[in-house]
Amino acid sequence: MTTLVIGGSGFLGTELVQQATGAGYMTVATYATKPGKNSQAMWHTLDLRDPGQIDAVMAEVRPHLVINASSGGADWAVTAEGPIRLAMTVAKYGTPLIHVSTDAVFSGARSHYDESCRPDPLTRTGRPKRRRRPVSSPCIRRPQSPVPH
Ligand SMILES: NC(=O)c1ccc[n+]([C@@H]2O[C@H](COP(=O)([O-])OP(=O)(O)OC[C@H]3O[C@@H](n4cnc5c(N)ncnc54)[C@H](OP(=O)(O)O)[C@@H]3O)[C@@H](O)[C@H]2O)c1
Repeated sequence: MTTLVIGGSGFLGTELVQQATGAGYMTVATYATKPGKNSQAMWHTLDLRDPGQIDAVMAEVRPHLVINASSGGADWAVTAEGPIRLAMTVAKYGTPLIHVSTDAVFSGARSHYDESCRPDPLTRTGRPKRRRRPVSSPCIRRPQSPVPH
C-alpha cells in the first residue's frame, strides 16, 4: 500500500511519515520549500496553489491513500483553496483522502464541540480553515492544538 502525505515535511506530517514508514508502508511525502529528513520516504515538491502539480504527483505516485497534513497559515490560496483543489484531484483518481483540519475553526466559546457544531473562527489561521470543505473527503480530523502553529 502506498500512502501519500501532503505536507509531510511539517510538524504533523513528519510524525505521519515516521508512523507510515515504521509500519512498512510505501510512503511518499510532499514539501513546499524543503524536504523532510526521513530517508525511507520518497519526497516530491508540491505547491497546493497549482492544480497541475497536484495532478502530476497523483499520476506519478498512484497512492492508495492520501493524507493532507499541509498548512499555509493565513494564506487563503493554500489553506482555504488548496485542500479543495487537492480533494477534487484526488476524487478524480478515486483515492481515499484524510483531511486534517483544526479546532481553530471554533472560537472556544463553548466547553464542548462535536462535528455538528458550526465553525466560528476568530483567528487569521482559523478563518481560511473554515473555508476548506473538501467535498469528496470521507474523513476530516480536527485535532486540538498541542503547540502553536
Ligand atoms: N501543529 C499543531 O499543533 C496542530 C494542531 C491542530 C491541527 N493542526 C493541523 O494539522 C495540519 C498540519 O499542521 P502543522 O502544524 O503540521 O503545519 P506545519 O508544520 O506548518 O507544516 C505545513 C506543511 O505544509 C507544507 N506547505 C506549506 N505551504 C504549502 C503549499 N503552498 N503547498 C503545499 N504544501 C505546503 C509545508 O511545507 P514546507 O515545510 O516545505 O514549507 C509543510 O510540509 C494543519 O491543517 C493544522 O491546522 C496542527
